[in-house]
Amino acid sequence: EKIKIGIDKIGFAMPKYFLDIRDLALGRNENENKFVKGLMQSEMSITPVTEDIVSLGASAAEQILDEEDKKNVEMIIVGTESSIDQSKASAVFIHHLLDIQPFARSIEIKEACYGATAALSFAKNYIEKNENASVLVIASDIAKYGINTPGESTQGAGSIAMLIKKDPKIAVINDENVCQTRDIMDFWRPNYSDFPIVDGHFSTKQYLDCLTTTFDEYKKRYSQDLSNFSAFCFHLPFPKLGLKAINSLLEKNVEKNIKNIFLEKFHTSIVYGKRVGNIYTGSLYLSLLSSLENCDNLKAGDKIGMYSYGSGAVCEFFNLSLAEGFKNHLRNDRLNDFNNRKQLSIEEYEAMFFEKIILDKEGNCDFSNSKFIQESDNAFVLEKIENHKRIYKKIK
Ligand code: CAA
Repeated sequence: EKIKIGIDKIGFAMPKYFLDIRDLALGRNENENKFVKGLMQSEMSITPVTEDIVSLGASAAEQILDEEDKKNVEMIIVGTESSIDQSKASAVFIHHLLDIQPFARSIEIKEACYGATAALSFAKNYIEKNENASVLVIASDIAKYGINTPGESTQGAGSIAMLIKKDPKIAVINDENVCQTRDIMDFWRPNYSDFPIVDGHFSTKQYLDCLTTTFDEYKKRYSQDLSNFSAFCFHLPFPKLGLKAINSLLEKNVEKNIKNIFLEKFHTSIVYGKRVGNIYTGSLYLSLLSSLENCDNLKAGDKIGMYSYGSGAVCEFFNLSLAEGFKNHLRNDRLNDFNNRKQLSIEEYEAMFFEKIILDKEGNCDFSNSKFIQESDNAFVLEKIENHKRIYKKIK
């Protein structure tokens, strides 16, 4: 019999700071309902200069890994589109910070928000051939569109870490999946630009059209339909797009009570995303975490349809089956983490947004006395840059 491979543990790290979306609306002279109802967003995570995809990724993984796990990890794959280096993979820094055994492979993977889904697939293939190995998959991103841009209300920051192994305690990654690639310019970030270039409305159309066409192909290939699924999780650039996504799957002759069950479950999948914003590669997995920790109507064996979308564009529809006792390996108090964050005023947010790393002639910059390090609840922070080398510090 084929071995079962999937998510054994899942962790999430975010920065300490957030902006209330209504304050952003006020600051930009927009009706707050455009963001609160039109996008269904309530807060956005904001990063200080002492956090990056490495500190967030390592912090998310540190929450879940024990010493035994660290001995068994044979590969670390980081999916990101907000990397810190064009050459060295963030996974190499993370490998060191977590003290993973040395004979491991550490790489970074890129295709916009889709990267971590590709990483999961590679992890599964690896474990099929190396049954006792674990793979650490990290989705880590900081989404920044720029002050006073249409995308500003859909920013966010955070990292999901997943330990992938055989006989997983949370969810099995099933074999059926369909991908789609379309060469389109809906969202991209040229090397010379700090911020992405976005064709916003075109991007949302493509996201939805890729979903329906990929799901149609999935149904055809595997002779399945809605009745094979208990719930769906979506990549969430903003929660309202997820609502449009679920509605597009529920169209036509679906009974009202079945529709309502899916919609009720959908609302549990956006609890965290509403308060974090878009975290690109991690958004789909934050939505999964949100469902698993907030939905009372999911049970072992339930199949969850997963829609991953990365602009450019590559998407995938795949699915997970929940493991026996999955609830015992999740948290039920995560909302405390959200409530313990510090709220920023619009002025503080803008100051944080524009704060840049300023290096001296030798390529040094020291944050070790920064209040952001003192205030951080995460395990790792960026402490300084020495001779152009980023130095991280374990603080928890
Ligand atoms: N009360 C209630 N609703 C209101 C309102 C009010 N006073 N004012 C506006 N709205 C509604 C609008 O009707 C609209 O909802 P519908 O689409 O359901 O009609 C919603 O609020 C947003 O309004 P606009 O479309 O006018 O907003 P916009 O054009 O200024 O910006 C956006 C919307 C284009 C999505 C913009 O936020 C953006 O560019 N975001 C970044 C790109 C993005 O997230 N794309 C998603 C797909 S790409 C992807 O998935 C990859 C990725 O992660 C980036």
